[in-house]
Amino acid sequence: MNAGLEGVVAAETRLSMVDGEAARLVIAGETVETLAARARFAEIASRLWRGLTPAAQEPADIEAALGEARIHVAAELLPQMRALAPLSPIEALRAGIALLPDDAPMPPHLLASAAIPVIIAAHWRTSRGRKPVLPRPGATHVADFLRMLDGRDAEPEIVRALETYLVTVSDHGMNASTFAARVVASTAAGVISSVVAAICALKGPLHGGAPGPVLDMLDEIAASGGADAIRPWLEARMAGGERLMGFGHRIYRRRDPRADVLKTVVRGLGTGHRRLAFAAEVEATALAILGERYPDRRLDTNVEFYTAILLDAVGLDRALFTPAFAMGRVLGWTAHALEQAATGRLIRPASHYVGSLPDGMEAPLVPA
Ligand code: ACO
Repeated sequence: MNAGLEGVVAAETRLSMVDGEAARLVIAGETVETLAARARFAEIASRLWRGLTPAAQEPADIEAALGEARIHVAAELLPQMRALAPLSPIEALRAGIALLPDDAPMPPHLLASAAIPVIIAAHWRTSRGRKPVLPRPGATHVADFLRMLDGRDAEPEIVRALETYLVTVSDHGMNASTFAARVVASTAAGVISSVVAAICALKGPLHGGAPGPVLDMLDEIAASGGADAIRPWLEARMAGGERLMGFGHRIYRRRDPRADVLKTVVRGLGTGHRRLAFAAEVEATALAILGERYPDRRLDTNVEFYTAILLDAVGLDRALFTPAFAMGRVLGWTAHALEQAATGRLIRPASHYVGSLPDGMEAPLVPA
């Protein structure tokens, strides 16, 4: 039995390659470092969706199509936002996407991608008693998200920093949320249903729910004594059986390459420096403690550690970190859903029955 499905190959994909031993990530043919340095959101969308759908394929066409789709989604969903107001941002995103039909006339990968920033921003404002800001189709997808959230245009360096983050997390092999999306797509349920399943998987703290707790950790250590408190605080958590958020990865045996990509972005942001030095001290101590505790299983920094610092520097509240992750990863989820659906193959693994059996009956030799 392989409860975590480690090493099980469940698909052929041309979308991304994760090399855990070498700590390399390639997304649609380019390293994450190359893409982060120059690619825009619409360009990575174009790379991931190309050949999987007859809809808009060039970055400029995709940017325009996303703008139109944001307007469409706002008309459909904003009247329903008040009902979602009591939910947390990620729950509201889950519920908001579920309100979209699987058979809408608009291509579902565009619909889901456009809907995510509209729902996040509208829910954030509505739940604070403020009116939603309508999308502006001429703005870029990322700039429009920040404008819908704050009600004013963000500085270009902030837009660029968030865009680099979204590109960096756009796809990552057969991670839990992507697998969830592919399982649903394999039943021919539709791309929107796949994205709902993916958001459910992303929400958990072992996957996309980690960056908020990373910031909580930094704040708690700072409040309980600053630099002198780092080691005792981390050791107390480990002794209590807790995992240190932002460290460890199922696949990477070395440092997650996305961690340094994001750290570089934070370094370039004036607002990012505030936390960087202290975060680096916490990181170094955490790695030392994890190394002492697990000398044979290298646990290193994962993407979520510097995601927390970057998204905080960009001005997002920590409750919006996981929804922001979804805004980037939806490009990968939708591409994987389309790729899986095209295979026509139902994903249906087996389980090993360990319960009781009626007298005289034996379990089959091949589990099902
Ligand atoms: N802190 C403390 N101990 C840890 C951590 C951690 N962050 N990560 C793993 N360990 C421990 C495990 O408990 C296990 O200990 P045990 O053998 O005593 O039971 C041992 O290290 C080996 O664990 P792995 O098999 O390497 O971990 P696994 O592959 O099951 O889990 C995971 C990977 C879920 C990411 C884990 O490292 C973790 O929980 N990290 C903290 C949460 C986090 O940062 N999540 C974001 C991941 S990145 C992403 O999904 C985008």
